[in-house]
Amino acid sequence: MTQCEINHKADAKSIDLSYTPEVQKETAHLYDKVSHVVPEIEWPAFAPYVKAINDLKKEKGAIILAHNYMTPEIFNCVADFTGDSLQLAKLAAETDAQIIVQAGVHFMAETSKILSPDKTVLIPDMKAGCSLAESITGEDVRLLKQKYPGVPVVSYVNTSADVKAESDICCTSSNAVQVVESLGVDRVIMTPDEYLAKNVATMTDVEIITWKGRCEVHEQFTYEDIEELRAANPGIKVLAHPECPPDVMAAADFAGSTSDMIGYVQNEKPDSVVLVTECSMSDNVAVENPDIDFIRPCNMCPHMKRITLQNILHSLQHMEHEVLIDEDVAARAREAVQRMVDLPAPKVVGPKFKTNQPPAQVELVAVA
Ligand code: 13P
Ligand code: SF4
Repeated sequence: MTQCEINHKADAKSIDLSYTPEVQKETAHLYDKVSHVVPEIEWPAFAPYVKAINDLKKEKGAIILAHNYMTPEIFNCVADFTGDSLQLAKLAAETDAQIIVQAGVHFMAETSKILSPDKTVLIPDMKAGCSLAESITGEDVRLLKQKYPGVPVVSYVNTSADVKAESDICCTSSNAVQVVESLGVDRVIMTPDEYLAKNVATMTDVEIITWKGRCEVHEQFTYEDIEELRAANPGIKVLAHPECPPDVMAAADFAGSTSDMIGYVQNEKPDSVVLVTECSMSDNVAVENPDIDFIRPCNMCPHMKRITLQNILHSLQHMEHEVLIDEDVAARAREAVQRMVDLPAPKVVGPKFKTNQPPAQVELVAVA
């Protein structure tokens, strides 16, 4: 036995994580799927975990909900359901499985628990956070409501349960315009993503008061990046996530949630494309679209990347780390999430947010 095999055995205690001929045979169909994006040399390190996770899921009746930003070996080889934030929230509400392992960040696991309070929701790493979720607290929202009495609060799903509990309704990147307009009012508070709010404001007459939260991944993309990409790759289609700054959206061909981008690539089949978002997206979309040329300047989300095959296995083995929410907070947060989930399926926003209209009606507030 090699030292590497000994270490793997020690790591997972009773589970043998050697790359045996049996493991190779049982996982061969999965490697075929990802061979386009996972180098062959890496598979012997992944395959034993893939097999162990899939066996343990069956044994425990657990499911894995994976966000589109998970690495390809998680997304394609162990996930039962994949999607954007809205799809994952709906799947969590619908599943009969009693154990949900959330391969995503903490606010996603909290959303699953809010919608499925009787189920066990596990997150492989409690530190998998989000710069948007960390930018605002429930107390901040209470102060905003005092400052703007009677103005309804729309909170991005990328927030804590405390923030959701103070909100009238949640939204995601795929339904933000629809949610804002569903309230039938002239003015809303939309927290915490400044750029999402500014991008939504170009699509609606509703006045928006927002918060100075940013996604640390998407705020880094610039208008100049897009110009350079177009100059270097004539004819390329540029797809951007609405957490990007408004001038990046103006320069894109299409804007939408992570799943809307997948839909665009599948339907339009561009010769070459750049997904202006997190790095794993291109790998995951390339698996189903091997003939499309993906140009890959991208930014990594350090929080999403905390989730690995190793900690997913640990999570299932030891039932860690369970996401728990105070019952009163969860009940109030559920109303806001459920109101969003109950809306009809959103129309895809594309081709892009109408960035030719300056988002003049956005008021940016900071409550001291
Ligand atoms: P989506 O809902 O579009 O998947 O976005 C989630 C997210 O965290 C993007 O950064
Ligand atoms: Fe949060 Fe941005 Fe990471 Fe999404 S990509 S989880 S918004 S930090």
